[in-house]
Amino acid sequence: MKKERIIKELSELKKDENYRSLKLTDKKYINFSSNDYLGLNEDKELRGEFFQKFKDEDLLFSSSSSRLLSGSYPIIMKLEKKLEKIYNKKTLLFNSGYDANTCLIETLFSKTSLIISDRYNHSSIYSGIKASEAKLLRYRHLDYNHLEEILKKYSSEYDDILVVSETVYSMDGDRANIKKLVQLKSKYGFKLLIDEAHSFGVLGYGECYEADVLDLIDYVVIPLGKAGSSIGAYVLMDELSKEYIINKGRKFIYTTALPPINVAWNLFILEKMEKFNFRRKRLIELSIYMRNLLNEYKIETISSTNIISIVIGENQRVNKISENLREKGYLIYPIKEPTVPKGTARLRVSLTALHTKEMIQKFVKELNYEIDNVF
Ligand SMILES: Cc1ncc(COP(=O)(O)O)c(C=O)c1O
Repeated sequence: MKKERIIKELSELKKDENYRSLKLTDKKYINFSSNDYLGLNEDKELRGEFFQKFKDEDLLFSSSSSRLLSGSYPIIMKLEKKLEKIYNKKTLLFNSGYDANTCLIETLFSKTSLIISDRYNHSSIYSGIKASEAKLLRYRHLDYNHLEEILKKYSSEYDDILVVSETVYSMDGDRANIKKLVQLKSKYGFKLLIDEAHSFGVLGYGECYEADVLDLIDYVVIPLGKAGSSIGAYVLMDELSKEYIINKGRKFIYTTALPPINVAWNLFILEKMEKFNFRRKRLIELSIYMRNLLNEYKIETISSTNIISIVIGENQRVNKISENLREKGYLIYPIKEPTVPKGTARLRVSLTALHTKEMIQKFVKELNYEIDNVF
């Protein structure tokens, strides 16, 4: 791209109050923007237990190679074996959720495929679809009647159809109906990919596992950067797909494998997953508490989870409100287009098990004040 065009685009973003810049994460704030939903990442004791457990192992900070050369360390193979035991599916560890979604879709689907995707699916899913060159159709967010209309129209035309959904949607905090998707799959015979980025951990081993529908789902992507308190992603699939990705998946083959130290942490968290129940219960309790409080203040949200979005509207207003809240000690960022549709800029509150009712109460009071006073 020419320099003049880059400068022009950046100045347009500034004019639209949609310019992004990196900000220092400062501990002095009460953080309402963290995806460490269970609070595992902040837990020093847990970290201490991890280092104690692995103190005699030579855990390196780099794998210094791709998985297909010398990067498949015993700890990675152990983790994948453990995953296969839990989920009863073949698994592969990827370096990120972004890579996992993109690689899976671009490797297993092609020009002759049809991919039907929830309109609000994550950017990594869209990138994968674009790279696959498949035909893309989007159904209205969580509207399964619309999805079925598309299926009725196109099922006879394509013999390779993929439907993609997330479990919990990160920008609205609402949830997909996985059982409904599975029902539609049994009626129309498409392949189904579910992204569990915002449900892994919060719902134990994930929603598909908890709802006992794993056998009926072709691909499950589990990014670990949220409640997983780590980096990387698990992909659950059948044996043939795994074999094919190992041989053809560019984002799996041509990249350095995750460092053994991170992989050991992933395994450690996975093995303790069932022990985090009290954190899950607390998160549910706090989420209900905040939604009730918002309701009392007549502040609307469509969220049904611990991600609570409050649509403000224009960029300028949402910027000002979040700036004022930061000045009052709350770390909360505005979410704007293209992440969400134009004119629906919002504040995305991300609750974690480390928040308290008192923190939430004070925050909602301040939020209400700002909504009433910033125009
Ligand atoms: C639904 C969803 N899928 C995938 C990703 C990407 O995962 P990662 O951060 O591990 O690249 C994210 C966010 O980061 C996400 O919200």
